Amino acid sequence: MISIKNLYKKFDSKIIYEDLSIDIEEGEKLVIIGQSGVGKSVLLKHIVGLIKPDSGTVSIDGTDLGKIGVSALFRQRKKFGFVFQGGALFDSMSVAENVALPLREHTKMTFTGAMEKVSEKLEMVGLKGCENLETAELSGGMRKRVAIARAIIMEPAYILYDEPTTGLDPILAEHINELIVDLNARLNITSIVVTHDISSAYTIASRIAMLYQGKIIHSGSPQDTKKSNNPYLLQFLQGKSEGPIDTN
Ligand SMILES: Nc1ncnc2c1ncn2[C@@H]1O[C@H](COP(=O)(O)OP(=O)(O)OP(=O)(O)O)[C@@H](O)[C@H]1O
Ligand SMILES: [Mg+2]
Repeated sequence: MISIKNLYKKFDSKIIYEDLSIDIEEGEKLVIIGQSGVGKSVLLKHIVGLIKPDSGTVSIDGTDLGKIGVSALFRQRKKFGFVFQGGALFDSMSVAENVALPLREHTKMTFTGAMEKVSEKLEMVGLKGCENLETAELSGGMRKRVAIARAIIMEPAYILYDEPTTGLDPILAEHINELIVDLNARLNITSIVVTHDISSAYTIASRIAMLYQGKIIHSGSPQDTKKSNNPYLLQFLQGKSEGPIDTN
C-alpha cells in the first residue's frame, strides 16, 4: 500500500502540493487526472523517491521513504515499474535490449535467463517474437508496449504509467488502455496511471482522483466521477483541460 500524507512541495516560489494526502490500496487501478503542469508527473516521482517532499510523508508498505538510506530506497524502488512520459526507450538498442535493461542493472541473470524473461514479457504485451526489431523503427503503439514490457520485467508490485496514451490515435490508445487493465489483473499488480485523457480514465480506473491547485479535490469510482458536481472536475470533464482555469 502507498500512503501519501500532508505532502507539501514547492519549486522556487511555485507551490506544487499543499497538504496533499492519498492512500493507494493493493490491486487498485488509480487514475490521476489533472491539467498540464498541475504536478502529476512530479507526484509519481515522489512515490518512487526520485523527488523528496519539503514536508509530509510518502510511505510504501509502511516504510517512510524520508526515513531510509540510499540502499533501502533502492530496495523500495525495485517494487516499481515505471512507464515514463514519452517512453524513454533507447533507439540505438534492439527491443530485447531495451526490455532487458533493468535485469542488467539490478540482477546477475545469465543472458539466456534474461532473454527468456524478455520473451515472456513481450508476449504479455502483445509483441511476441519482436525481440530483434530496431526500436527506432517501431510505431508509437509498439513503443508504448516495449516501455510497458520493460516496466514489468522485474515483476514489480506497483506499476506507474505517466501519460501512456499521449500521442496515440484513439484506437491504439484504447488498445493500450485494455493492456493496462489486463496486466493489472494478470500480474496481480497495483496500477497508478497519470493522464489528462478522461476517456482513458473511464476505461482503466477502479478509482479516479483529480489533482488541482496542490490538492486531491476529487476521488471516486468512474460512476461517482460522472455524477460529481465538483466545479473544477466538471470544467475538466467538459474538455477545458488545457490552459489555466480562471479563478477570478
Ligand atoms: N525538477 C523540477 N524542478 C523545478 N520545477 C519542476 C521540476 N519538475 C517539475 N517542475 C515543475 O512542477 C510543475 C509540475 O510539473 P509536472 O511535470 O508534474 O506536471 P504534469 O501535471 O505532469 O504536466 P503534464 O500534463 O504537462 O505532463 C510544473 O510547473 C513544472 O515546471
Ligand atoms: Mg507530466
